[in-house]
Amino acid sequence: MADATTPTDPMPRNFSEVDPLDFACRPAHLLGKQWALVTARMPDAQPLPAHGRINTMTAAWGGLCWMWERPVAMCMVRPERYTKAFIDAAECFSLCFLPKEYRKTLAYLGTTSGRDEDKIARSGLTLVDETGIAPWFAQSEVVMVCRKSYVQPMESACFTEREILEQHYSGGAGLHDIYYGRIERLLVRDA
Ligand SMILES: Cc1cc2nc3c(=O)[nH]c(=O)nc-3n(C[C@H](O)[C@H](O)[C@H](O)COP(=O)(O)O)c2cc1C
Repeated sequence: MADATTPTDPMPRNFSEVDPLDFACRPAHLLGKQWALVTARMPDAQPLPAHGRINTMTAAWGGLCWMWERPVAMCMVRPERYTKAFIDAAECFSLCFLPKEYRKTLAYLGTTSGRDEDKIARSGLTLVDETGIAPWFAQSEVVMVCRKSYVQPMESACFTEREILEQHYSGGAGLHDIYYGRIERLLVRDA
């Protein structure tokens, strides 16, 4: 039986594809201040998760870079995030950057778990779920569809600024996994 998130929606017409090499932005601001939604689709071969095949979470940590002769986006995901299982099972994830009127929506998606409710449905955002790539949100102003290239767990022994461990990983919080994804498609909403 098809679930509510079976891929159907065509790509909205009001986006243009941009070469990642030509995309001008302030990367630290884009991630750290505007925040992203990291979204992935649980493959159909996997059992249907309780609240749908797609999950998303807000992320402020990450980056944009050039590695392995490809444009790469990175995001950092703690092991306790429900979204992690979706990203791990999928070949692709998306990073969506929404305009500031969606700040409250991003705060909601960053404080509620998809384990507990269908937060995408509650968010009111519109999924674009084309076959073969990661789903993304039609309300975005910038979308990066990324093919997972490399996943690396952070290790406490590798921190040379030791106070980061105390600041961010005390009290049982898990160290992030770093996801590197080749930016396969970069879409910018038309003005
Ligand atoms: C502004 C903001 C930024 C966040 N950045 C990250 C991040 O970079 N990495 C991460 O693992 N969690 C981050 N979070 C926390 C997750 O978004 C949050 O735990 C979310 O509820 C996880 O949802 P899930 O359990 O459905 O995956 C952030 C939350 C907010 C509000």
